[in-house]
Amino acid sequence: MANILEQFEGLPGLKLNETLKPFTTFNVGGPAKYFLETNDISLIQQSIKFATAADIPWAPLGGGSNVIISDSGYQGLIIKLSSVKCEVNSNLITADAGTNLARVVRSAIGKNLTGLEFAVGIPGTFGGALAGNAGTSGKGIAELAREIQYISSDGELHIATPESLDVSYRYTRFKYSTTEIIIGGTLYLNTSEPQQIQSLVKEALHKRSWQPKGVWCAGCIFKNPANNFAGKLIQEVGLKGKKIGGAKVSENHGNFIVNTGSATAEDIIILISLIKQQVRDKFGIQLEEEVRYLGFENN
Ligand code: EPU
Repeated sequence: MANILEQFEGLPGLKLNETLKPFTTFNVGGPAKYFLETNDISLIQQSIKFATAADIPWAPLGGGSNVIISDSGYQGLIIKLSSVKCEVNSNLITADAGTNLARVVRSAIGKNLTGLEFAVGIPGTFGGALAGNAGTSGKGIAELAREIQYISSDGELHIATPESLDVSYRYTRFKYSTTEIIIGGTLYLNTSEPQQIQSLVKEALHKRSWQPKGVWCAGCIFKNPANNFAGKLIQEVGLKGKKIGGAKVSENHGNFIVNTGSATAEDIIILISLIKQQVRDKFGIQLEEEVRYLGFENN
């Protein structure tokens, strides 16, 4: 055991007690006990194999745009992929998990491929977007996947087929997984006319135009409940602008919580509980988070 731990702690580039806050768009979160940021897939395989053998929990972190990290941090290994390859080959676009989603979207559009325009303006990495099936109310990126490459807890590389992804609204089997990490994926897209693509891009940007910009936030906090909109429900209970500590419900869009500067994860979680309680009391609807929690019990 000591031997494995020594091997693990001796891995090149492994950092101790790295503060995670700067790696999130909420700018919230304590330190990771272990932190590895690398583009070396074999190093990731090794780190996962050793961590699993040493009973150290591990979790991937993409662009940090859809996650709430505990103020006490993560008592395990956080893996951040920094490989950023992105290639278009006829109707297929293949990218590393660490690639910015925006770059993947731009590359597709640049080759007159259609189907990803809805993702214009979504922050984060390609891997994170695939894992959480990022998108709009009606469309998600994982639905376009031809295959996803991942590493399992024994350090082995695998390929997941579309049928095995368990895709649903803002969800795939990878979203909360603590035993698998996406390292890349391939999407299949159709070809189209540049003009048609540009009008879909415009439409996507217009839909996001009233979302808060240039602030610390994690996008939408809640999934839309069936036949309804979380933002609208939050507006109707009168919680827009509500502040707890440094966390505030956006005045623009009710489904966004903004870190006004000094928010802690605890402030955000108290605000989330308040929203859930008030929406439940008034409408009998139980809102569910679309953001992922990291560093809390069972996460
Ligand atoms: N609405 C309000 N008040 C608000 C917010 C929304 O009344 O404060 C109403 C709007 O007027 C509209 C409806 O609710 O009638 C839906 O609002 P919007 O068009 O902004 O879309 P959304 O359902 O709130 C979804 C995705 C967003 C995505 C947008 C645009 C979810 C949870 N959210 O938002 O995704 O950007 O469509 O495509 O599915 C995210 O996942 O992080 C995210 C921001």
